[in-house]
Amino acid sequence: MPKVSNKGKQMPESPIRKLVPYSETAKKKGHKVYHLNIGQPDIKTPEVALAAIKNNTVKVLEYSHSAGFESYRTKLSNYYKNHGLPIELSDIIITTGGSEALLFAMGSTMDQGDEIIIPEPFYANYNGFSTASGVNVVPVISSIDTGFALPPIADFEKLITPKTKAILICNPGNPTGYLYSKEEIQQLADIVKKHDLFLIADEVYREFTYDGDQHYSVMNVPGLEEHAIMIDSVSKRYSMCGARIGCIVSKNKEVMAAAMKFAQARLSPPTFAQIASEAALDTPKSYFDEVITEYRDRRDTLVAELEKIDGVKVAKPKGAFYCIAQLPVDNADDFAQWLLESYHLNNETVMVAPAAGFYSTPGVGLNEVRIAYVLKKEDLIRSVQILKEALTAYNKK
Ligand SMILES: Cc1ncc(COP(=O)(O)O)c(C=O)c1O
Repeated sequence: MPKVSNKGKQMPESPIRKLVPYSETAKKKGHKVYHLNIGQPDIKTPEVALAAIKNNTVKVLEYSHSAGFESYRTKLSNYYKNHGLPIELSDIIITTGGSEALLFAMGSTMDQGDEIIIPEPFYANYNGFSTASGVNVVPVISSIDTGFALPPIADFEKLITPKTKAILICNPGNPTGYLYSKEEIQQLADIVKKHDLFLIADEVYREFTYDGDQHYSVMNVPGLEEHAIMIDSVSKRYSMCGARIGCIVSKNKEVMAAAMKFAQARLSPPTFAQIASEAALDTPKSYFDEVITEYRDRRDTLVAELEKIDGVKVAKPKGAFYCIAQLPVDNADDFAQWLLESYHLNNETVMVAPAAGFYSTPGVGLNEVRIAYVLKKEDLIRSVQILKEALTAYNKK
């Protein structure tokens, strides 16, 4: 029988989705499962985006330009400028989600065996994109005790080798919710300039910051133009995860020329979804005000409820809609599976994402889970209540 590739074998499973068969079984048993495991918001997509799909008069669903509709890129560039980011049309290539932008960024900057330094815990699919690109992830550990702040720059320095090509950050962070300060971004800018590396910043949660904290983009750092690559997406901003539209942004012409060749090879990003994404740029500010208020309330509720449980430690997120919680268990993987397979409270249970999959250092984060606060407040309160009872039952086993 022909054999699959080593790369195929090495591709990591998604820690966010790997427990899905157990949740399906729980549902077949008639149990309600609260999904705290996945960043699929229940927030409505803006009306303007949906209306553009319903009302369009397209007769042929053609390919678009490989970099995406020019009209969309123009409007997107204006959107960024209105948000203080000096981004021109030529700095943007529209991609099939932020996911494809990450693949293009790696493909355009790294060769087989090159190294990318990433503060962990990190968005688990960075492992998958790195494996697919033949790139080795070099993790630098950030700690729940500092709320997952940027690790000391000396920790990065120690890891830089001739193979290091880039540092990748997620700001605000999935799964940590950490928002890097201007000073932290500046420290990263200094180190990438010193060692001639790229700084790839995944900013798909840019709008989701709470407590009045300001997001500071890598596209705003003077002198970083040749080093900075920004990853963006409509998935979370407009609750349009299924549209599959994102973009890669850089002022480095060589990077954009390389990324464009990857873009040409896959022909174009999805046409219908670009129509919706372009229209979404007209979303009124009031939509975001409401959404941010809703997420802030959810965050506050979730953190307050979790902190009531003995032995649970949580780093209060400053942005995005996730948090990492340390639980009084030895193996959160086992606990998360047990919740679905063997536990229910009045026929209800919860699904969380074991955090070990968000680290690449083996043995770290074993007692942590990632919780996405994408459910309404009542459901979050109920979920944490179930979690509390479940922890007691699990530790009595
Ligand atoms: C940090 C981060 N980056 C990128 C993505 C990919 O988003 P998409 O491909 O839907 O744009 C996600 C999705 O959850 C994410 O959390």
